Amino acid sequence: MAREKKRRSNGRRSPLAAAALIGAGLMITGAVYAGASAAFAATDTQTAASSTLTVEDGEKLFQANCATCHGLDMQGTANGPSLYGVGELAVEFQMSTGRMPLQMQGPQAPQKHPQFTEDQILAVSSYVQSVAPGPTFPSDETLDGKGDVAHGAELFRVNCAMCHNVAAAGGALTEGKYAPALTETSALHIYAAMVTGPQNMPVFGDMNLSDEDKRDIISALLFQQQSVQIGGFSLGSLGPVSEGLFVWIFGIGALVAITVWITAKSN
Ligand code: HEC
Ligand code: HEC
Repeated sequence: MAREKKRRSNGRRSPLAAAALIGAGLMITGAVYAGASAAFAATDTQTAASSTLTVEDGEKLFQANCATCHGLDMQGTANGPSLYGVGELAVEFQMSTGRMPLQMQGPQAPQKHPQFTEDQILAVSSYVQSVAPGPTFPSDETLDGKGDVAHGAELFRVNCAMCHNVAAAGGALTEGKYAPALTETSALHIYAAMVTGPQNMPVFGDMNLSDEDKRDIISALLFQQQSVQIGGFSLGSLGPVSEGLFVWIFGIGALVAITVWITAKSN
């Protein structure tokens, strides 16, 4: 009896200790993750500022980092397309979303942490623009987010939602390609994507969507990014798929748990 008591006070920890430990572990992991992702989001380049580097610096950066695939004169090689007529906006978009320089051939160039500073990116952009001009930066007004949100949301549903999902949460396409979520994309990059049509995305020229329409779409997406989720959990805004999955896991899971509990009781 005495031995039993002694072991209890020395050896065994409270049953709550394990739960508290797991709880604390989860909290720390969550806090670190939240901090890290916030820091990552904060580095996104928002608007174009004039570069302190020159076009010549851009040329050197291009030759060192891009020419192996795109060719010394941007004529293209077996590893990368020609950049004639692609323009500075496409270069800014590709480099500051981390898609370029490409690291590995695959179904789609993935977004990465950008490898160059904003100044370096603008220098390379100016260099490409000086050799083979293409679409350029829009006016500040187009990006100000003060357009007609309702009209923009309608245009988004008609032109973009089939690939990017109605809630702009992104979606899978064929052959391992995908349309990314637009929940963190900056106004400039929304515009750039529409004008330059990266990879599997079509180009939305002035004939399809005027600059005013683009401004409305940008406003609608920015509005959506800033607004608070209403109507409970969004479940990824995938509609019946994730709702069904939720019922499968939690609804049927609960039924199984209750059944097990009842049979355990009756014994
Ligand atoms: C390893 C090879 C590789 C390297 C290095 C590389 N690229 Fe690319 N780049 C590609 C490929 C492949 C594509 C086509 C992607 C696709 O459409 O699937 C591409 C596409 C692009 C496009 C889009 C073209 C378009 O039609 O819209 C731009 C702009 C671009 N690259 C710029 C750059 C710049 C600037 C650099 C250097 C910082 C760079 N690339 C480095 C392979 C490369
Ligand atoms: C046919 C499908 C399709 C349609 C329609 C489409 N997109 Fe895309 N979009 C894509 C794909 C695929 C990518 C990824 C391209 C890449 O990674 O280079 C993309 C990329 C983007 C990006 C870049 C996201 C980022 O964070 O880097 C933006 C912004 C975007 N699309 C906005 C739009 C808007 C706005 C419309 C409607 C006007 C639209 N898209 C219509 C397929 C589509």
